[in-house]
Amino acid sequence: MSIPIIRRGITVGDRKINSLINDLRATKKKLLEGGGEEKIKAQHAKGKLTARERINLLVDENSFTEINPFVKHRVNWFNMDKKRYPGDGVITGFARINGRPIYLYAQDFTVIGGSLGEMHGKKIARIYDLALKNGMPVIGLIDSGGARIQEGVISLSGYGEIFYRNVMASGVIPQISVILGPCAGGAVYSPALTDFIIVVDKISYMFVTGPQVTKEATGLETTFDELGGARVHAEKSGVAHFLAESEEEAFMLVRELLSYLPSNNMEDPPIVDTNDPADRMDEELNSILPDDSNKPYDVRDIILRIVDNGELLEVQSLFAPNAIVGFARLNGRTVGIIANQPNYLAGALDIDASDKIARFIRFCDAFNIPLVTFVDTPGFLPGIDQEHGGIIRHGAKILYAYSEATVPKVTIILRKAYGGAYIAMSSLHLGTDYVFAWPTAEIAVMGPRAAVRILYKRELASADDPERFLKDQSKKYADLFANPYIAAEMGYVNDIIEPRETRPKIIKVLETLENKRESLPPKKHGNVPL
Ligand code: HXC
Repeated sequence: MSIPIIRRGITVGDRKINSLINDLRATKKKLLEGGGEEKIKAQHAKGKLTARERINLLVDENSFTEINPFVKHRVNWFNMDKKRYPGDGVITGFARINGRPIYLYAQDFTVIGGSLGEMHGKKIARIYDLALKNGMPVIGLIDSGGARIQEGVISLSGYGEIFYRNVMASGVIPQISVILGPCAGGAVYSPALTDFIIVVDKISYMFVTGPQVTKEATGLETTFDELGGARVHAEKSGVAHFLAESEEEAFMLVRELLSYLPSNNMEDPPIVDTNDPADRMDEELNSILPDDSNKPYDVRDIILRIVDNGELLEVQSLFAPNAIVGFARLNGRTVGIIANQPNYLAGALDIDASDKIARFIRFCDAFNIPLVTFVDTPGFLPGIDQEHGGIIRHGAKILYAYSEATVPKVTIILRKAYGGAYIAMSSLHLGTDYVFAWPTAEIAVMGPRAAVRILYKRELASADDPERFLKDQSKKYADLFANPYIAAEMGYVNDIIEPRETRPKIIKVLETLENKRESLPPKKHGNVPL
């Protein structure tokens, strides 16, 4: 069905303008209907909101200004001349979130399934051009059947133009993609090139090839949800950064996330009055670690006692739970928190945790967000699957990202910091500005038992009671090395502090780093191990 733009005859005298304005009003009213009442009903029946309802929920009240609502496609193949809707299936414009300006686009599934053709693509590209020039974040609300089949290669050009802009905008303005329906085929690569992907349970799905092609190629039956549902991407693939239970929650997440971020890479993140005293000590931190250093605990309990008001916005919280990354504030200023999580895999670094940590560091570094790292890791995870999966390549990303990051970097070694993982987790050697250790820290080449097995291989083999021998020698090794003092004597640890004073200490040193200036040697770009 084609929706004509209303054009009435021009009248004379001062009635002419009134008539034109009335025409414009009527036309604009029509524009709001998207694909029409039936399609809107179908959208609601799927438990989904319309593009305009979504925008209203996302942005500050009455702050949205639409751009290019009249744009239509210009294709006639497959009777497309009868499906020419103003807006071409995507609503674009600017608005405010928490009072700060942003650009956005919202795909309208009620118009030809939100499919992306030439003009639809051009509208999104235009938003990107404006956002990039003006240093404003872009938020994409995605709900689309993908490349518009009737437009053939022309629709692919639309995607290509968007991908290019996603990359140009990377590290310049924050980009957030909210998946609110299908996002399939090559279309997935636009969100994948943005900084954060938010998925909604039972509503979002993303895959390169759908269940049908998967079955043809592999013989395996699967469903949309099993293949690329929200949980899959939040827990297994690591493609999604946040999982929301509803569309409303997804929009709240966007608002919360933006509150931590600057509008572009030339700005600092906003400073918030959190009313949490900078000199607040937390007495309970002094007894928070278990006596047995092999016992797990939730590192979040430590982080929440240190950051402002116990607030942490975790990123990828369900993926690679052996590492924690997220945004918090210290004395009102945004920091990126990175921590090992002893509650899962003893906090060892594996392939997924390495990717998670490295990507987060690089985001923070691009957007002037200081890094605060809490270390408690026995090392990189051993295993054939890890070695064959490329833990060397992936683990190197952490070293690369920390070394390359020029934002303020502060590290607290809570407990274990062994071997390569000691170096990788923001050690002083990688250009970290301050490293502190709790008295419980154990900083050594490897854990005591593993060390004894190597140092006393022959003695162990001939010992009457090997377990006793192992125990005794491990204790000796631990007494010597499983502490922070040798590292502190070497100056690798700048101070050993009481756990309770961690918050004031970090805040104090971050204050000294507020004007930190550091630049990398001139180069086109480095070769991050991908
Ligand atoms: C044109 C499309 C379309 C598309 C949906 N529609 N996808 N039109 N091009 N890609 C139309 C439908 O024909 C229908 O029109 C309307 O949108 C609503 O779609 P339904 O199928 O009725 O909705 P639903 O049952 O919810 O199914 C949604 C869907 C399905 C799963 C997304 O429409 C679907 O499988 N679409 C095709 C997906 C796809 O293969 N896309 C190409 C991917 S390849 P009417 O007129 O009946 O209302 C790709 C390459 C990108 O995207 C490469 C970039 C580099």
